Amino acid sequence: MQQHPESHGSRLGQSSVGKLERFNPKRTRMDTLLNNAIIATDNALRTLFAKPRASRACPTLPSEPTELDAEQKANAGALMRVNHVGEVCAQALYAAQALSTRDPVLRQQFSDASREEGDHLAWTHERLVELGARPSLLNPLWYAGAFGLGLLAGRLGDRLSLGFVMETERQVETHLASHLEQLPAGDHASRAIVAQMKDDEARHAKDAAKAGAQELPLPVKALMRASAKVMTTTARYI
Ligand SMILES: [Fe+2]
Ligand SMILES: [Fe+2]
Repeated sequence: MQQHPESHGSRLGQSSVGKLERFNPKRTRMDTLLNNAIIATDNALRTLFAKPRASRACPTLPSEPTELDAEQKANAGALMRVNHVGEVCAQALYAAQALSTRDPVLRQQFSDASREEGDHLAWTHERLVELGARPSLLNPLWYAGAFGLGLLAGRLGDRLSLGFVMETERQVETHLASHLEQLPAGDHASRAIVAQMKDDEARHAKDAAKAGAQELPLPVKALMRASAKVMTTTARYI
């Protein structure tokens, strides 16, 4: 059986290392908070400022070579900037939710999904560079907002936290489907990335459902869609 992280202190308390290392719940809580703050800061800095590295090449390959004129490149660049912002937010959401849950199995599920989102982050970043476009200047803001939302969802308990993941992934899947319609027909490179991401996000939603996600109330879903609309519209330009 897996050891609960918070039971670490009680093992110390039963050992013979002496009074100074006796289990101290306040100190253990402080250590956990500090540890979580370090993990969160590290994740934010790597997402926002380090060059993202994919753990795998995009499995979906472009069906043909891509040749675009300047206008098509600019259009594709704006759309891929939006998708890159989405992946920045995914890093923040999964990091916050992995930190929030006390269930080690669920934490592992969030971490595994986060690794795939890391691939998406790297693919979209690489494609932005190829298109001569830049990431959103507001990425720190998007990251902070998504991290806060992830913490909030995590505070509501695992089933609602999973419900938030499931709904987010479903909305992202729908959004990516719309981008497959909007991307220039000849941008096979971007299309391959978006198609693969769409498949991965659909699987993330199914995994959350299997893990016991609770369906969110309709007004919450509508609010999430409205917030996403603000983000996707702004990120096209800034
Ligand atoms: Fe993703
Ligand atoms: Fe996802």
